[in-house]
Amino acid sequence: VDRDRDRARDDLRDRALELDGADELARFRDRFAQGDADLVYLNGNSLGRLPLAAIDRVSQVVREEWGDDLSRSFGSGWVDLPVRVGNLLAASALGARPGEVLVADSTTVALYKLAWAALDARAERSTIVADSDDFPTDRYVLEGLAAERGAQIRWISADAIAGPSLGHVEALLDSDVALVCLSHVGYRSSAVADISGITAAAHRAGALVLFDLCHSAGVIEIGLESTGVDLAVGCTYKYLSGGPGSPGFLYVRRDLQERLSQPIWGWWSRHDMMSMGHGYERAAGINAYLGGTPGIIGLSVAEEGVRITAEAGLTALRAKNVALTTFAIELFDSLLAPEGFRLGSPRESARRGAHVAFCHRGGRELVHRLESVGVVSDFRMPDTIRFGLAPLTTSFVDVYEGCVRLADLAS
Ligand SMILES: Cc1ncc(COP(=O)(O)O)c(C=O)c1O
Repeated sequence: VDRDRDRARDDLRDRALELDGADELARFRDRFAQGDADLVYLNGNSLGRLPLAAIDRVSQVVREEWGDDLSRSFGSGWVDLPVRVGNLLAASALGARPGEVLVADSTTVALYKLAWAALDARAERSTIVADSDDFPTDRYVLEGLAAERGAQIRWISADAIAGPSLGHVEALLDSDVALVCLSHVGYRSSAVADISGITAAAHRAGALVLFDLCHSAGVIEIGLESTGVDLAVGCTYKYLSGGPGSPGFLYVRRDLQERLSQPIWGWWSRHDMMSMGHGYERAAGINAYLGGTPGIIGLSVAEEGVRITAEAGLTALRAKNVALTTFAIELFDSLLAPEGFRLGSPRESARRGAHVAFCHRGGRELVHRLESVGVVSDFRMPDTIRFGLAPLTTSFVDVYEGCVRLADLAS
């Protein structure tokens, strides 16, 4: 039995090496800090690896732009940075047009601003449709807003693996729904929502739609413009490799920008901000969705992560991401299912984001033990181990090693 098992493992390892050999994105791995070369890092869905270009950029921003040029740097680039990085992100990863995306606040703050804007634009309605299994910050921000504005939330209770469907949303839509707010890719299961179908259904009911793109930005060709989505937010520190706490982004479709307004009337969102005039007059276009001074160092570093994503190209990134998760599921079937794991992600590749979830009663403990054998992954309540397979930096051998070591720990 042991000999059969070893032979099967050898075959899988050979396949991993073959897939790595044919991987056109493999060359990008050297553009990221390696740290411990033996570490198997499978947590790119939490925090992307460090692009080497970010190290030079930090040094340049801190030494030259801050150290030498001081406040003059605001005029020579810093003030434009949220829109500049937003435009690069829009073109390379989101499928949005110039002037539709900003990179400035955290995802949480961006979500608050845009959900508020949507409720305000539909003030005659008082219902939000959301997913009871969505990421905590999304649920809490919506709960807070509902309390603030006297609105109510209709929660979708979806299958934990398949996530919210068009049918779930349609069943809750009526003329009182102001906003449908969902994640594009589920943070636990990796399920991809039908963004175009849900948007069309919400629009038929007269509601606005806000998608959280944290787990799809940089790995799925989102094509925001063609989906018809009204509003979107996301972070840059996962697959976009922007660094810990790097600023999030927000998207407001061009034709809505003047029709909606956001609640934080900061000076950066004012028309002619340097006039310091009395009374608030909103800036034109996407700048009206800014607030105060963004963290320039973090934003500059995030630009390097977005740049490297743009260089690799979303078509290649998505293709590799599908190949990585497909291989992970093959490994699951031969190594993990026999040890009592359940697959916590959809099997159909089009319905899956860039991480895979393996469920096990001892999941939390196994994630700790994995770390002690050189594999970094993460755990999500109640029983889910996530392997985040960032396509820029994850090899097929990494996936193999992660699954083999997990199987050995559980056996
Ligand atoms: C779906 C989703 N939304 C929001 C966040 C976090 O928001 P913030 O960047 O404001 O901490 C995460 C973090 O993992 C997330 O997965």
